[in-house]
Amino acid sequence: MKLTTEQMEKVENLLSQMTLDEKIGQTNLESPSIVGGFDVSFEELIEMVNDGRVSQDEFKKIMSTASRDYHEDDIRAGLVGGMMGDDPVKANELQKIAVEESRLGIPLIMGYDVIHGLRTVYPIAIAEAGTFDPELFERTAQVAAKESRASGIEWNFAPMIDVARDARWGRVSEGPGEDPYLASCFAKAKIRGLQNDQSSTENYVAACLKHYVAYGACESGRDYNTTSMSVSQLHNVYLPPFKAAVEEGAASAMASFNDLNGVPCTLNPYTLRDTLKERYKMNGFVVSDANGIVECVTHGIAEDAKDAGIQSMNAGLDMDMGTHIYKEYLKEAIETGKVSMEVLDDAVRRILMVKMWLGLFENPYVSEKNIEKYKTLPEEHVAVSLEAAKKSIVLLKNEGQVLPLNRKQKISLVGTLAANRDEVCGAWAMGWKSEDCVSIWEGLKNSGADVAYYLCGGPEDEINEDEIVKACIEGDVVVAVIGELVNMTGEASSKANIEMPGKQRQMMESLLEKTKAAGKSLVTVLMNGRPLGLGWEDAHLPVIVEAWHLGVQMGNAVAAVLFGDENPSAKLASSFPSMNGQCPIYYNHPSTGRPGSKSKFTSRYLDAPFEALYPFGYGLSYTTFIYGEMQVEETADTYDIRVGLKNDGERDGTEIVQLYMQDVTASLVRPVKELKGFVRVDLKAGEEKKVTISLAKADMGFYDNQGTYVLEDGLFRLYIGGNSRDCQCREVRASFK
Ligand code: BGC
Repeated sequence: MKLTTEQMEKVENLLSQMTLDEKIGQTNLESPSIVGGFDVSFEELIEMVNDGRVSQDEFKKIMSTASRDYHEDDIRAGLVGGMMGDDPVKANELQKIAVEESRLGIPLIMGYDVIHGLRTVYPIAIAEAGTFDPELFERTAQVAAKESRASGIEWNFAPMIDVARDARWGRVSEGPGEDPYLASCFAKAKIRGLQNDQSSTENYVAACLKHYVAYGACESGRDYNTTSMSVSQLHNVYLPPFKAAVEEGAASAMASFNDLNGVPCTLNPYTLRDTLKERYKMNGFVVSDANGIVECVTHGIAEDAKDAGIQSMNAGLDMDMGTHIYKEYLKEAIETGKVSMEVLDDAVRRILMVKMWLGLFENPYVSEKNIEKYKTLPEEHVAVSLEAAKKSIVLLKNEGQVLPLNRKQKISLVGTLAANRDEVCGAWAMGWKSEDCVSIWEGLKNSGADVAYYLCGGPEDEINEDEIVKACIEGDVVVAVIGELVNMTGEASSKANIEMPGKQRQMMESLLEKTKAAGKSLVTVLMNGRPLGLGWEDAHLPVIVEAWHLGVQMGNAVAAVLFGDENPSAKLASSFPSMNGQCPIYYNHPSTGRPGSKSKFTSRYLDAPFEALYPFGYGLSYTTFIYGEMQVEETADTYDIRVGLKNDGERDGTEIVQLYMQDVTASLVRPVKELKGFVRVDLKAGEEKKVTISLAKADMGFYDNQGTYVLEDGLFRLYIGGNSRDCQCREVRASFK
């Protein structure tokens, strides 16, 4: 985030005029409180929802009838720094109070969760990451930024860039997968897209990197759980996307809920002050996650709310989301010297800088014209979402080349997920309207398919055998859509069983038997937000398409792939296990002394494969790519890895060529493979190209347990291939002197 000297002077000038209360006000992030409609406090109500005394449905009813307190008096008094919400009319109203009625006229910053699109929702991050397409990551983020600004949101709680390797964690859906390099490319592109070039306030928002940090390493994949790891692991795996995003100019970050090696990230001076602010030089601010500060009391690291607030502010947490602890206790903490004015000034300065950089002092309001702009989704936004959706679909298996289908085939479509528009957007999608979403059934109809839908079963439904029989008799091909409901992933949606939910496996067994008997083909399309344990499916089902939760255009994208209008090109950003007990499973694990093999005393299971079912980087195409012989050329600063690539089939296609590295002898045990580069290569049918990926020697190092980046001479293996498992290898002896 770059500010001009003039902007910095304005910030300093404002800061010098602020009272202590006004300074503390800037650190307070409010959300509209719910008032009336029930007898208990809102906090108690949430507690009741959490422990099941109030059902989700009852809660929704209460919320829709309750009125809201927007804290207008506090805004007027300069006691609010930011507000959460997505209503531009309300945002203008509140902003007007802040700008015109508060003493110094400091605008509010309006924040909201826009993780994968607001109105024009695009694929969940774990799916989009599989496109390996930074230019696309940037364009989808641009769509999100524009729609956010028009909704009065200047601050997106995105990108979510937690490296995650345990599919049991429901939040794997929100992030770019298991690999730090891919996650870093994703993070940088998202910052470019969200924060843009700042040429017009209609085009950019402040990004908020989350969840800082290591939240994805929560033990046993259980949300909010503890994390512990070496310094080396933290710097090599979990920090890189954050570092990359800060280098790209990210304006803010959100501290994660988890403790890291015993210190909650909300009040962790090592991660916040030392690493993010001093080492990476992030000049923007850090906000807590919702209720994060008070949870430090429950963590058992702070005596009470006041203590938690003091520790958090001193550690470098600049803004309080939702607890009012800074508002309540910071004044006393400053007066008693528990927090210095310098620390508070640093926090306030950062918040003012972001507001200044956002142009909020000059342009605090959403214009009438802009409010109207995205009421109906603009064609160009829908086109980007469709492109992202098509490019995110991974072909996992295509036995007998059943796919692509042709339009003359009569399709029997089964599975309740196929017919439900409200299931396409995925977790943490907030601003979509049902009428803008395209279900798979609708997508097939839109594309001219001869398709009939049969109500045979779904993630939470009973199986209807009569309908299964009908579907198998009446269609030439049965397309079964199975997987997870949206609410099975996302926050607070960890699962111990990540195999196919409900009775869907039984439904598939029945479909398999009856399609076989009738001589019909069976195609399986998966809709899900996490890697699923697909051992049974892979062993039995001939054709499997991973379609994730793809956003508003899901149905059209799936139809395009099923009919071959789009040749699938995506690869998995996360390894898929065969079964639950393999979690966590990831390709870039440290080398063991006894690598898993057929023999017993090796790193393996007695009752499960030790390898992933579908590895990171895996995905098929309707054409075949043939790799030539890998060549490595050394220059002063790089290794240039070259390979010939031929499209050996009859369809145009895109291959994602991946470069991996292994540091074979190092002072710390290193991963068996690490992604170091990739390139999307478009090849016409029969076409051949030379592909070169350069590996900078400077990038061949790693962080040691002091957090120092080291480059160690020695033997390295370089791998190139179409996924993390099937690669060619060359060894090089590198010297970095
Ligand atoms: C989530 C964050 C989110 C915040 C605000 C929290 O529960 O962990 O990802 O940004 O709520 O909605």
